[in-house]
This record gives sequence, C-alpha cells and structure tokens, in this order.
Amino acid sequence: MSKIQSPKGVSEYFPPRSANFEYVRNAMIAAAKNAGYWMMELPIFEETELFVRGVGESTDVVSKEMYTFEDRGGRSITLRPEGTAGVMRSVIEHNLDKGQLPVKVWYSGPFFRAERPQAGRYRQFYQVGIEAIGADDPEIDAEVIAVAHRAFTSIGLSNFRLDLTSLGDSESRSRHRKDLVAYIETLDLDEATKERAALNPLRLFDDKREEIRAKMSNAPLLVDYLNADAAAHFEQVQRLLRSFDIPFTLNPRMVRGLDYYTGTTFEFVHEGLGAQSGIGGGGRYDGLMADLGGANLSGIGFGLGVDRVLLAAEAEGLLSEEKLAHDPLDIFLIAMIPAAKDCVALLTNSLRNLGVRADMAYGDRALKGAMKSADKSGARFSVVIGEDEIASGVVKVKNMESGSTESITLGDLNAWKGALLH
Ligand code: HAM
Repeated sequence: MSKIQSPKGVSEYFPPRSANFEYVRNAMIAAAKNAGYWMMELPIFEETELFVRGVGESTDVVSKEMYTFEDRGGRSITLRPEGTAGVMRSVIEHNLDKGQLPVKVWYSGPFFRAERPQAGRYRQFYQVGIEAIGADDPEIDAEVIAVAHRAFTSIGLSNFRLDLTSLGDSESRSRHRKDLVAYIETLDLDEATKERAALNPLRLFDDKREEIRAKMSNAPLLVDYLNADAAAHFEQVQRLLRSFDIPFTLNPRMVRGLDYYTGTTFEFVHEGLGAQSGIGGGGRYDGLMADLGGANLSGIGFGLGVDRVLLAAEAEGLLSEEKLAHDPLDIFLIAMIPAAKDCVALLTNSLRNLGVRADMAYGDRALKGAMKSADKSGARFSVVIGEDEIASGVVKVKNMESGSTESITLGDLNAWKGALLH
C-alpha cells in the first residue's frame, strides 16, 4: 500500500528534535509568564470576517494566504493565520476589556498561511505571542519588546537585531497618507499594485519587487509626520530600551505585513537564517479593538516564530540532535527474567508516583539489548532485576556515568528517593 505523506509545507517535530522545539517554546512562554501575562487558549478556526476586518484586505495574509472553507452549516471559516485578531475577538466577547486594565495574555499554538514553502517558511507554523490591551503608556511598549528580547536571550541567542519604527497615531497617519497617496499617483504602476495601494498605500513599502522598491525610494516616510504626542511617545520607548540595554536599529521603511499596526512597531531579525530571517515581530494596534466592534482601547503585542527560533538556535550551535534540551530519565529498569517483569513494572510505577522519571525495558530482549535501551534513554541510573534480586529483595542501582553501584532494598521508598531525587 502506498504511504501517506504530510501535507505540503507543514512543519513537524518528532523525537529527538521535538525536545528542542518544546524547550524553545517553553522558554518563550516562561518569558511571558515572568512579566505577568495570563494564558489564553483560543480556537484554531474563526469566522473569516474576523481576519478580513482585523488583519486587512490589502495584506498578502488575507488576500492570498488564508485557508478558508465553508463548514457544514454554510458559514465561512478560516484557519487562524495569526493570533491578535482572535485575542481581540475573545476579549470583546467575554468583556475582559471592562475589567482590570491592561489585559495581559499569552498564547501558543499553530497558525496557518498558504505561503510558498521554503526553509523557515511553512504553511502550518508555531507562534508564542503576547498581547497587552488597554494601556497607552510607552512603558508597556518597552515591556513587550523586552519580553521578546528576554525570551531570545534566555535561549542563548545573540546573533539577532531589533528593527524599530513608529507608524504614528491616527492624526499623523492621515496627514502622511494624503502625501503618500499623492506620491503614489505619480508612479507608473500595474493595476493590481494600484488596487493594493488604494486599500492601504503603506503596503507598497513592503513590496519585495526591485522596481517597486526603487519607485518607493523617495516616498514620504511616516516617521517624518509624527505629531508632538506620537513623537514624544516614540522617544520615550527608545529611552526606555536604551536604559534596558536593548540595542535597536531605526528602520523607518518597515511597515510589517498586517494592516492593524499603529505607533511603535518592531521586528527581530536573525542574521543566520537567510531569507526567512524574521524570528518575531509586533507592535501597537490602537484602532483594532474599535474596528472589531469593541471599546476604543489601545493594544500592543508580538508573535514569535517558534520554528524559526529553533532554526536560529541551531544555527548558533546552541541546540542540535546531539545537544538536546531534553530532561533525561532518572532511571531505566530492566527485568532479566520473565518472572521479574511484574516486580519491575510495580517498581517503575512506584518510582513514578514519587516523582522519579522512570522507564522500563519492554519485550523479551536479551540483557545486552535492554542495556542498549538504557544507554539510549540517557537515564542517569539503571537497575537490572533477576532471580537473585527478587530472592534477596535488594537491588544494585548503577550510576550510568561513573559505573559505580549502590544497593537499595526494593520496598524502601525513602532510600530510592534519596538515591534518585536530588
Ligand atoms: P507576523 O510578523 O506575521 O506577526 O508573524 C510573527 C512571526 O511568526 C514572524 O516573525 C515569524 O517568525 C513567524 N512566522 C510568520 N509566518 C510564518 C511562516 N509562514 N512560517 C514560519 N514562521 C512564520 C503576527 O502574526 C502578529 N499577530 C504579531 C503581533 C501580535 N502583533 C501584535 N501582536
């Protein structure tokens, strides 16, 4: 029979590399929790309208990359391409915006974009994200950026930079938009590009084509249109980042790929990843909640790409199949004779009840094969139980590194604890 393969362009993690994926993801989650963010678990599919309104029709994500289908009730459903719109929908729906502010939440899970697959770009990929809703202070902008920075450095990453800009408040943006539209009207553009520009002229800054880049090289930049309030906010964010020792580069042409951004906007770029170098990004989205029918609260957050952060950690030699971020077993147990199997199963179970990480050999393999499994398991200790051990009730626990042994009475759980849990 022919084998079934995974769908094109999805990322999958299986042992042993899955241990490194889990480690990277958990390190990023830990950074979020460390700063007072609460977990949120959201649906993987939402009404299509949420992303059309939230993320914006001019974006590639909405116009070309969504996995959209009709469900059995005839509703248009989309697999979530990003997390912010769903968080906003849930916060509004469950009135979290009427409680204590800011609402600070984190999430982690799969996201879906029908992009052209390549190294570091997948159709199902993973993010850890945070959102802070209802605080206008520049201090929260600096906090969000610092959480991402701490997430990366806690893994040991160093070969990355932070690009920063401000996309302004609504007043600055509308003044800029007028001039930008007038500038774009002077350009000779194809129809599709004109249509995009009509939806959101900022999108042309994000165009990858060389001829469009050249045409946009003299376009007016938003940072030159910031009014006093927006400029002061952005200045304060920069001052705070300097005081946090977080280096950044100002990149006034960065607009990011989603339409909801306003004000402080940022992207972390890893130098060792080639084309798909964005390991995380985010920013303010001060009009999004109102656009989705909620209160007029501001927000800021980020999404970090777990797949790419793992690739970055591997590129920096921090993790590999040999350097696994895997908690090893404490002990591996082997029955030398069939009659010892019950005893081994019972002891394994009792040790697990004590919190010892224990596993045992299955199948009726010879001792040599079972010892190989013990070695491969990475367990710190092993024990072999045969006729003598059952008769005497005393077993020899072997330290796999030094080879030394210690005798322990089978039923003496305190002795087991003392030997294995430290
Ligand atoms: P984003 O920049 O579209 O932002 O995605 C965030 C990160 O997800 C990227 O920097 C990248 O590491 C990863 N990523 C995106 N697409 C792919 C892909 N096809 N394959 C692998 N990794 C990918 C957002 O999604 C916003 N929701 C972030 C945010 C939260 N802004 C404010 N709050």
